Amino acid sequence: MFETTTRNLIRFIQDCPTCYHAAAAISDILEAHGFTRLRETDAWKLEPGGTYYTVRSDSSLIAFRIPESEMKNFQIIASHSDSPSFKVKENEELSVDGHYTELNVEKYGGMLFAPWFDRPLSVAGRAVVRSGNMLAARLVNIDRDLLMIPNVAIHMNREVNEGYKYHPQKDMIPLLGDETAKGGFRKLIAESLQVSPDDILGTDLFLYNRVPGTIWGAAGEYFSSARLDDLQCAYASVQALLAGGNEHSVCVCCVFDNEEVGSTTKQGADSSFLQDVLTRINSCLGRTQEQYQMAVASGFMLSADNAHAVHPHHLDKADPTNRPYMNHGPVIKFNANQKYTTDAVSGAVFRSLCEMAGVPCQTYANHSDIPGGSTLGNISNAHVSLNTADIGLAQLAMHSPYETAGTKDTWYMIQAMQAFYQTHISFTEKGCCLN
Ligand code: CO
Repeated sequence: MFETTTRNLIRFIQDCPTCYHAAAAISDILEAHGFTRLRETDAWKLEPGGTYYTVRSDSSLIAFRIPESEMKNFQIIASHSDSPSFKVKENEELSVDGHYTELNVEKYGGMLFAPWFDRPLSVAGRAVVRSGNMLAARLVNIDRDLLMIPNVAIHMNREVNEGYKYHPQKDMIPLLGDETAKGGFRKLIAESLQVSPDDILGTDLFLYNRVPGTIWGAAGEYFSSARLDDLQCAYASVQALLAGGNEHSVCVCCVFDNEEVGSTTKQGADSSFLQDVLTRINSCLGRTQEQYQMAVASGFMLSADNAHAVHPHHLDKADPTNRPYMNHGPVIKFNANQKYTTDAVSGAVFRSLCEMAGVPCQTYANHSDIPGGSTLGNISNAHVSLNTADIGLAQLAMHSPYETAGTKDTWYMIQAMQAFYQTHISFTEKGCCLN
């Protein structure tokens, strides 16, 4: 089951070279399981026991399950669909020295530069295509080895192994072809969509790593793939939602775009998206504003984004007592300054859920001398405020285009998330009750 789950995850990630593909792939999975698509621009009609999803801006998705019985709260899992990459700029072609054609790109998010060199890359994303008076967004994926960012030979930079400062505009420009490739990039995109280049009026295109995911290690205990942060958690949350909910909770699965650039977009975790969806669910079920506030106040969120495993060569980067390892189960993240939302109550709830699911769990805190990253939970809580725990799966090489994680952990996370959706969490005078 560990290996099958990992292989399924690797295949899913391969189908998701960009956030647009992630939203589309998750939509396909949901449709295959009977979920109904809702458009934010249409009126919604929701039924008890119904399963629905909506997509904003082609890249963020919220799916939910309405309980058969009276709804009492929202139980939400949030993750993200985007990963650090390079975005193709407008006027994308660069002619170099009369003999090379390159693509002008800029950074999206904070990535490790070095692993982007000397490996086959391609381009994917979306293009807006004109047809009559319609402008339609279409998925793009040039599904072949297309580009390479070549390193400088050691002979020309003898000090490179002492440390090198990368300049993205100089160093991180992918080579598309020789001089004959000039003027060909737009045509390539147009051909893949079977439209005329003149009818492509806009693009959001990103580079992606072509190296397929693989399971490795002495006993197959590890696997590596692009975009594990955060498609591993996104995949787990969707699988858990498919498995069912409980009698009284609206179970919600959010996969937000733009986490890697601060979430402050119309479709990010810092937008109105989640609040808009939850208030609509509430009013479509004929409930009052006060009932909405009660459902949020008694709600619970898991903010699921991957965590750093202890690095075998950099033991001192990890906290001395909170040391996550791959294959040791979901990680609960703590931070005194509340970059992670977990507190005594929400941490205790998630620990109990793992115990109920029969999976191990572990804890993460930043080494106090090394500031950590941020994630979705605290940002989302500024819009919809409810008890939240920050969790994730332990991985190495976060924000490399090829990351490493544990073969057992996706399965563990699915079990814990299933337990979350299938358990109604309520807050009473005496405390928090799980049943
Ligand atoms: Co992340």
